[in-house]
Amino acid sequence: MVKPRVFIARVIAQEALDMIAQDTAMEVWPEELPPAYEVLLEKARDAEGLLTLLSDKVDAALMDAAPKLKVVSNMAVGYDNINIAEATKRHIVVGNTPEVLTETTADLAFALLMAAARRVVEADNYTRKGRWKTWGPKVLLGRDIHHATLGIIGLGRIGAEVAKRAKGFNMKVLYYDEINRSEEEEKKLGVEHVSELAKLLSSADFISVHVPLLPQTHHLIGATEFAMMKPTAVFINTSRGPVVDQKALYEALKSGRIFAAAIDVTEVEPISPDDALLALDNVIITPHIASASFTTREKMALMAAENLLAGLRGETPPNCVNPEVLEG
Ligand code: DGY
Repeated sequence: MVKPRVFIARVIAQEALDMIAQDTAMEVWPEELPPAYEVLLEKARDAEGLLTLLSDKVDAALMDAAPKLKVVSNMAVGYDNINIAEATKRHIVVGNTPEVLTETTADLAFALLMAAARRVVEADNYTRKGRWKTWGPKVLLGRDIHHATLGIIGLGRIGAEVAKRAKGFNMKVLYYDEINRSEEEEKKLGVEHVSELAKLLSSADFISVHVPLLPQTHHLIGATEFAMMKPTAVFINTSRGPVVDQKALYEALKSGRIFAAAIDVTEVEPISPDDALLALDNVIITPHIASASFTTREKMALMAAENLLAGLRGETPPNCVNPEVLEG
């Protein structure tokens, strides 16, 4: 029997590649950088399956060029790089990797929150540059985390895990969520719902964003929203870069409108080394590493492999974002 052709857009965990290799004719993109869009399109032409990362754009034109395509398995929980409506129209199932990265991502969000509040990166640079002369009563003062108020925007799986971490620091936790409100979850986590984003922005000491990138969440946080925050506020984003208007973030940080920010995602990734944001001391920028632990990346790879193989067999992938393709 002829094995289905699949293209794997990056080298992922060996165990996952071995699993895929058993049942497919597999080509793996060997480079560190993603294949260019044109290359991905060429690779997709004969493929029945693609395993992609969030940096690989799968749009209608690519799907048109790939008439045999049955499944796109994205090794990420987010899938804003894939046009889901167009995939569904073409009966292509799309898989993602939820749950396995939830706690790892929440860990990084909290690490960023703490690092920005207590100026950890700035302090490390200060030491390395030989500026540590004495114990100074006013040197590198930061913001207390314990007993402060955290505002979570989007209380999904990751937002809820961030809330749990905050409770360990005796924080008061508010949340705003346009889609979900669960009173049971509120009781369980000890968090308080606010019905207006403005209320959350003006009352929180720390604000952490956990929403997917959708047309409705593009630039959800811009100049108006930064203007509502406390001047002592610390802003965290581990969701998607375009959820925040980065120019407005720059202005808010530069002018001292807010105290600090720590972001794992930028509007364009990677951020240009010349970007003005990188010249500011009161922002920490990590290169989209929220799920980057050894264990989690292995679990994501295995989950993506399972989704891919199920889709090739004509089954609904265990984690599928458009199951309606195979229903009915
Ligand atoms: C995701 O999975 O969507 C993260 O942003 C990358 O791990």
